Amino acid sequence: MSLQPQCVLRDGTSIPAIGLGTWKSEPDLVGKAVYTALQMGYRHIDCASIYGNEEEIGEALERYLSETQTSRDDLWLTSKLWNDCHQPEFVRPALLKTLKELRLDRLDLYLIHWPVSHQHGIKIAKDVSEQIPREQLPISETWQAMEALVKEGLVRQIGVSNFNSKKLNRLMDSSSISPCVNQVERHPYLQQPSLLATCQAHNIVVTAFSPLGSGGMDDLNLLKEPLIQSISSKRNCTPAQVLLAWGIAKKTIVIPKSVNPERLRSNLDAIDIHLDNDDISQIDSLDRHHRFNDGKIWALEGGDYTLSELWDES
Ligand code: A2P
Repeated sequence: MSLQPQCVLRDGTSIPAIGLGTWKSEPDLVGKAVYTALQMGYRHIDCASIYGNEEEIGEALERYLSETQTSRDDLWLTSKLWNDCHQPEFVRPALLKTLKELRLDRLDLYLIHWPVSHQHGIKIAKDVSEQIPREQLPISETWQAMEALVKEGLVRQIGVSNFNSKKLNRLMDSSSISPCVNQVERHPYLQQPSLLATCQAHNIVVTAFSPLGSGGMDDLNLLKEPLIQSISSKRNCTPAQVLLAWGIAKKTIVIPKSVNPERLRSNLDAIDIHLDNDDISQIDSLDRHHRFNDGKIWALEGGDYTLSELWDES
């Protein structure tokens, strides 16, 4: 296996360009997957409090670190602040819970998971009264509490997830520490060139979640896309490896989720796949602006959060 490619943050810190995604990784399987992935050489694990599996991941991390010579500093561990902890007084306790569950004393990266705020204790708002309108709680207030975590040494870097360009620009204007990462859904069916350009112009690294298209949904399956399959035959690799190599070629971080040892292995081996400019431009032509995770869940009738506001699209 080649040296793992890295994405470099504005302060020179490097993040392994392939990380293990843990969204939808089932209980009883996720710990094994994380432990196996670390044994295979994954050095970047992407977590979130809302995934409900950080305790099991923490056990696997602790076991791996205690059984091997690997230093904690050689791993990159990300987690995310859930929507019900955006009020500044809840930010630090939420991080401490995540740290306790992951059995860590600091995170490498902490992200605001969604630009959508809920009343404390409400994981998924079913009614607008369970959401907090943006004017009542500017995201800059949450961000200031995130900045305090960096100053305290509890997290090395802070960033956001699911932010559009407008929200990023507004946040950068009001912050003393600029977000260093924006984690968004990204794959050939949802390429978001203008968001990518905004991020790259401001040295914000884009992390692509669902880089395999969530394994196929909505009758759309990137892994079965004829072009992806033909490039994979030509390059003697799997369709998933083509998708991951394409994401890395675009200078994004990719965090494919898997709990299957063979797929974990082959996803990591995507770092050895080389796509030429012709492959890349053909894959670029697959864009159809299709979201598998469309955010409709936040757009409650009569509420402050609408899809056009969320994605800044009409
Ligand atoms: P599994 O965990 O059984 O491997 P995404 O990261 O885009 O959300 O995709 C995750 C989905 O794709 C999961 O259903 C995962 O299932 C599946 N998957 C992960 N790696 C591969 C692969 N190399 N080939 C096919 N499916 C994969």
